[in-house]
Amino acid sequence: MGKVSTLVSSTFIVLGLVVNGIHSWNYEDEDTKGVFRWGDQYPECDGLNQSPIDIETARVQVNRDLTVEIGGLDETHETWIRNNGHTAQLGLLDSPKPNLTGTAVNGKLYEFAQLHFHWGEKSDRGSEHSVDSVFYPAEMHMVFYRKQYGDIETAVKYKDGLAVVGVFLQNSKTNNPNYDPLIYAVRQAPDYKAKSFLPSEITLRQLLPRNTQKFYRYSGSLTTPPCDEIVTWILLADPVEIGEQQLEVFRHERTNYVSMRSGSNRIDHNYRYQAPINRRIVESSFNPRISFSTPLNARAIKPFYKNVFFPSY
Ligand SMILES: *[C@@H]1O[C@H](CO)[C@@H](O)[C@H](O)[C@H]1NC(C)=O
Ligand SMILES: [Zn+2]
Repeated sequence: MGKVSTLVSSTFIVLGLVVNGIHSWNYEDEDTKGVFRWGDQYPECDGLNQSPIDIETARVQVNRDLTVEIGGLDETHETWIRNNGHTAQLGLLDSPKPNLTGTAVNGKLYEFAQLHFHWGEKSDRGSEHSVDSVFYPAEMHMVFYRKQYGDIETAVKYKDGLAVVGVFLQNSKTNNPNYDPLIYAVRQAPDYKAKSFLPSEITLRQLLPRNTQKFYRYSGSLTTPPCDEIVTWILLADPVEIGEQQLEVFRHERTNYVSMRSGSNRIDHNYRYQAPINRRIVESSFNPRISFSTPLNARAIKPFYKNVFFPSY
């Protein structure tokens, strides 16, 4: 059985934000509500099984029996996107929703809830996870909740409540037309709490890399408060390419506070710093020691941990 987080108010929306309509946390480096101080209000953010992490391929355990099956990837959906103050979050209007199962989640059935993005000010950084300390410009999270719990608010109370598919976004010179409807909608809704429909229906397949069978799996947490340690992470190894111009649209989303770092109310970065892996083991469905392509513009950055030092920019 999982446990009930007493800190979570009834208005809490998973991975989305908002406790009683006030921003109680942010991505600032040196704010009392900032990314290094989330644990003050949300103790689980200081837990031992937090996300994101760096994937050290030399220490990954290859497990050829790991599978992930996502159902409904090719079905088209009427889709909306909302700026929740921390990210651009996409939801599907119509049912049935896509689902996820496989040995990677011990054969349990999960249902699609939402997807959203994490990005950085520039394309040298922005993903939350990294592979051998190499970051990508952005990362997409497709959030699924365990269907038997009925809804996501209930599911987050259980250890096996969520499965999140993480997808690295690599920048390219040319735009990815598969992302055009989504980017168009993000551009239409730059303001805090703004919502817009995508101009055409999309499939989830459109947003994924061709190969979804090469992935890493580990147990971790939400990467936003309240940081519940209830997530089976499925991180796809292959990135999907999107245009640098398309990435820039995310960086012009706005929130309702002014960043001390940039002096503007743009959501110019929304990634959490990494957590130590501690006793956890990362498994992979493939041998990562054989094929790993280094992203185009990414550079290796040693991960830094909470309370070790403040990064300077
Ligand atoms: C998963 O989704 C697919 C596509 O909508 C559907 O055909 C299938 O029945 C679903 N699986 C379960 C177990 O509900
Ligand atoms: Zn996320």
